[in-house]
Amino acid sequence: MKLLGIVIGFLCVNFLVASETYKAGVLLQNKEINEFTPFIHQAKQTGVDILVLPSLPTGYADKYDELVSLFSKTARQAGVYIAVHLYEKARCGMAYETVRSNLVFDRNGDIAAVYRKPQNGIANCTAPHSDLVTFTSDFGVTFGLVMEEDLALYDEEHFKGVRNFVMAGEWESEVVFLNAANFAPSWSYIMNANLVSTAGIYSGKAGLQTGDDNLIVAELSKNGGSDSQMVLSTKPSNLLHEYLSQYVIRPLDVEASSRGYKETVCHRRFCCEFYVKTALGNNNEASYKLAAFNGVLPASDHHNIAAEICIMSGSENSNTVFERISVTANFTKQNAQFPIVQSATVLPAENFKFTKANGNSQQVTLETVNVKNVQNVGIFGKDSVLEDNYIYGEKNNTETVEHDIYEYIFNEDVQEFFDYVWIRLRILIVVVSIYILEMM
Ligand SMILES: *[C@@H]1O[C@H](CO)[C@@H](O)[C@H](O)[C@H]1NC(C)=O
Ligand SMILES: *[C@@H]1O[C@H](CO)[C@@H](O)[C@H](O)[C@H]1NC(C)=O
Ligand SMILES: *[C@@H]1O[C@H](CO)[C@@H](O)[C@H](O)[C@H]1NC(C)=O
Repeated sequence: MKLLGIVIGFLCVNFLVASETYKAGVLLQNKEINEFTPFIHQAKQTGVDILVLPSLPTGYADKYDELVSLFSKTARQAGVYIAVHLYEKARCGMAYETVRSNLVFDRNGDIAAVYRKPQNGIANCTAPHSDLVTFTSDFGVTFGLVMEEDLALYDEEHFKGVRNFVMAGEWESEVVFLNAANFAPSWSYIMNANLVSTAGIYSGKAGLQTGDDNLIVAELSKNGGSDSQMVLSTKPSNLLHEYLSQYVIRPLDVEASSRGYKETVCHRRFCCEFYVKTALGNNNEASYKLAAFNGVLPASDHHNIAAEICIMSGSENSNTVFERISVTANFTKQNAQFPIVQSATVLPAENFKFTKANGNSQQVTLETVNVKNVQNVGIFGKDSVLEDNYIYGEKNNTETVEHDIYEYIFNEDVQEFFDYVWIRLRILIVVVSIYILEMM
């Protein structure tokens, strides 16, 4: 009898625990469509409830209808929710427009939600959604649909407190911080929301990714991340150096940092205060820069982001151990700051703090202790998102904005610079892929 009680108790606990979570999967890139189906069935066998497929290139726009029926059929056969990003050539009067859509198929193969956007932000027949598109699954979770750039372009209010998101659809941001592999974990952390994306699975303050090199599977809490664990972006990228030409920079004083020292770096009226202390026994070869940025960054074809950034950026293979790094600044906008932590080794939650000052939520501090292999540590603060016409339209008397636009548009090196960034970006993609493979 007692045993039965225990068994029933165990089952109940198990049931309760099970009902608090769901399983999400991501099929990684570089596969042909005809390779998808076996992985979708494999996902089902590992208990995946919802699976995000790799984005398909624009070239498939002609096959939209075909693909929709293929994925519908596969979702029905496997009995899983499938999210995918497709391009669609939509008729518009006598012509066609290319539309980007995120589609979710339910277990019956029916379309549970569609989130559409004109490809280049301008279209005559496709109105972009102004509200967050959501759907509620049969396992009781409400998901928001997002495309990569939405994380950077929209403010917190847009996401309406939803705690679970599927994200499909690539975006090539010229701003390194804003590329999914870098920004998604920070966004997920700040929102404390689950983000199941083609770039990986992030679960707020409890980041986790597991699986083989084709399929990443994670068990997620239905209420978003938990506070117990934290794995921030640990994907090193040395792209920052290109941008540093736009920043105000001070080299890290290696000598002083072995004792611990403070340095303030200001760009226009925005100041970053750094405290850096390296651990004993370092060979003092660290080559780090302390940098501040206050201006406009080209975020996408049609948007620019006014940003305030503090960053300590280092050389690639630094073995320097930092006993403490603290970065603090007073930002213009409230609740729009994201931590940047990129290192080759994972940073446990207890070594990381991202806080706002009491009674002054614009004063934000990032503090890390005992970190090594650090590439970038800092705070990305979003001020506002500026529409295209800001650049080409009449000038605004906001001197910062004008100044930076001037720098970006009239700098003759700009094209070369972007080409360079794109080349480096491809390298990053490879590096990240290798990193993901190593995580497995
Ligand atoms: C959209 O409208 C503009 C002006 O109204 C026109 O010049 C353009 O050809 C239209 N594009 C399509 C795809 O219909
Ligand atoms: C932020 O503001 C507080 C209060 O006004 C001030 O004491 C502090 O020095 C400022 N910090 C920076 C980095 O400017
Ligand atoms: C100029 O900036 C102000 C305040 O930021 C804004 O309200 C206004 O719409 C801007 N003007 C233009 C032409 O963009």
